[in-house]
Amino acid sequence: MCSPGRNVGVYSFTYFGRVVNECYTGFMDKKTIAVFLGGKSPEHDVSIVSAIVSVIKPLKIIGSKIVPIYIAKNGNWYVGDELADIKTYQTCKIDEIVSKQKPVSVSFNDGFTIIPAGFRARPIKIDIAFPVMHGAYGEDGSLMGLLRMAGVPFVGADMEASVVAMNKVLSKEVASENGIPTPKYVSFPTSEFNQDRKGCIKRVNDTLKYPVFVKPPHLGSSIGISKVKEPKSLENALEVAAYYDDVILVEEAVANLIEVTVPIIGNDKLTIANVERPLSLEDEFFDFKSKYINGGKKIGKGKSGAQGYSEIPAKLPGSLYKQAEDVAAQVYRVIGLSGISRIDLLIDSKAEKVYFNEINPMPGSLYAHNWVKKGISNVELVTRLLELAEEAYEKRQAVKSTFDTSFLKQF
Ligand SMILES: Nc1ncnc2c1ncn2[C@@H]1O[C@H](COP(=O)(O)OP(=O)(O)OP(=O)(O)O)[C@@H](O)[C@H]1O
Ligand SMILES: [Mg+2]
Repeated sequence: MCSPGRNVGVYSFTYFGRVVNECYTGFMDKKTIAVFLGGKSPEHDVSIVSAIVSVIKPLKIIGSKIVPIYIAKNGNWYVGDELADIKTYQTCKIDEIVSKQKPVSVSFNDGFTIIPAGFRARPIKIDIAFPVMHGAYGEDGSLMGLLRMAGVPFVGADMEASVVAMNKVLSKEVASENGIPTPKYVSFPTSEFNQDRKGCIKRVNDTLKYPVFVKPPHLGSSIGISKVKEPKSLENALEVAAYYDDVILVEEAVANLIEVTVPIIGNDKLTIANVERPLSLEDEFFDFKSKYINGGKKIGKGKSGAQGYSEIPAKLPGSLYKQAEDVAAQVYRVIGLSGISRIDLLIDSKAEKVYFNEINPMPGSLYAHNWVKKGISNVELVTRLLELAEEAYEKRQAVKSTFDTSFLKQF
């Protein structure tokens, strides 16, 4: 039943084979929503699919005015209705737009306004920004800093939490300081590795037990990650990570591994989706191809698309399901996340111990497939995220940012 007195719409979706008619608050149909997609990151293409399939499509159902803001691989910004169409990116049209169109400018006067190129183009005032960006310059706090400066509500984690979440060393430090277990690790700047290789290798060998994982801590999609089974292979793995990042993280491998991921939405009050277990046919770790090209399958012809192969909800022995939910919620809180996130956990199934692995502040396709199984449709999810964005914005605005002093008069 739709609650009376609210401006609501009804949306139908299929839930475990049943058609469900559900309600959503309708005030978002009055808003102009900027959807950011693309970006200067290796996950540029994944962001396009996430934005078009899981955000723009439901926003069209809601009836919001959508302004797709495409950030090209070179960092330029473009707007235009065709940027909300997947075909634009599947053909040469996108290259034409990038090479022929002038990028837009942005004004921060009185909120966040996009000024499209062209003499006759009208400025577009944005009510809420929806950054559907993965990786560097989009998910890592950079864009959030800019949106804060512009004074516009935006979906997802704020700047500070995004910075910490997208740095695997910082997020581990904050988590372990707060008593959340994470695999034992060592980290050092790439410059230190370049100056003193032997010293760095010794530190790893003196501190950690093999096998270890070597990671570039700012990257995702398993890019630059190596599993190292014995000391003689360490240096090469460190070189690979050094190629991709200015910091190197080395951590012990979790034995008897079960991987799970826990999608969460909320600001102060959290809603946890199903604990999900991605399944692979081999016992090695997922790489980019297995996650995005083979749809979660390590080998074989497989379905296409991300997260095509997982167990929802995960069947975990004993109290592990509850433990996973608790650890994920703790991580969300101590990192200071808001809006949406997905917390990845590594479980030692024999020791029944849950370790924090990493955070995805803007999960691919919002993990809408999991939320649907929780009974929250894609439309409801997007609506809630927009409401949470406004709530977070109000909270930010309530904090006084100026302070009157007589300091200048002294000079
Ligand atoms: N300490 C560990 N113990 C066991 N397996 C690990 C460990 N660290 C990473 N892995 C394996 O390597 C994979 C990739 O590692 P991680 O999740 O840190 O990288 P990522 O690049 O951020 O991946 P993505 O963004 O695609 O989730 C994990 O999904 C897991 O299979
Ligand atoms: Mg991961």
